[in-house]
Amino acid sequence: MARKFFVGGNFKMNGTIQGIKDIVHRLNDAKLDGTTEVVIAPPALYLLLTREHLNPEIEVAAQNVFDKANGAFTGEISASQLKDSNITWALTGHSERRTVLCEKDEFVARKTKAALDEGLGVILCIGETLQERESNETINVVTRQLNAVAENTKDWSKIVIAYEPVWAIGTGKVASTEQAQEVHASIREWLGKTISSEAAENTRIIYGGSVTDQNCRDLAKQADIDGFLVGGASLKPAFIDIINAKL
Ligand code: G3P
Repeated sequence: MARKFFVGGNFKMNGTIQGIKDIVHRLNDAKLDGTTEVVIAPPALYLLLTREHLNPEIEVAAQNVFDKANGAFTGEISASQLKDSNITWALTGHSERRTVLCEKDEFVARKTKAALDEGLGVILCIGETLQERESNETINVVTRQLNAVAENTKDWSKIVIAYEPVWAIGTGKVASTEQAQEVHASIREWLGKTISSEAAENTRIIYGGSVTDQNCRDLAKQADIDGFLVGGASLKPAFIDIINAKL
């Protein structure tokens, strides 16, 4: 079975009510490749607004989710609350939360399980820092991050893995097609060895880190790159071209 191309847009902490509406209208009016699965992740404050106005063919993701179902966790949002709001995806493990908010592998794993247990899809973000890459630790790092999730998650059918080298995020220094393909192939090998041959065959592994309308087509040609998680460019009209990278 061919893996459906997947493009996520991570708006991060950007946008206003009018700005989000402008992006939603632009996506609603665009001619999008119907064979590409599109999910956009606005800031939490704008999830309901986005869901209400966006073409229902495009799904909406929360940029974060807590690992508990409810209770005295000020400021957090649970997977059940997202589901209740028809928010059908959640990002977990984004490097900005691993570094800025000190989220450890085990916490990311609990969040991922909590989202999956509610039937949400999960975009699981992994990736190495520049220092880890320069120390030839890349594969060890992404394997460690994946193993933490595999400890309590055996069904990977609703997980999309986003490989996002930290040194490429927001820097304009996109990974080369060779660098990205090498790590994606290693991730797929890990899936086959650790989860199942079906998971290896069917799991989308998407690339994130300075993806633009200029570099997306070459990356999309790689055997194990099944799409993108786009940051800065998802806020711009060029996001349409990235969604249509396979056309
Ligand atoms: O989650 C996607 C993001 O980390 C990539 O950001 O701005 O380099 O596309 P950017």
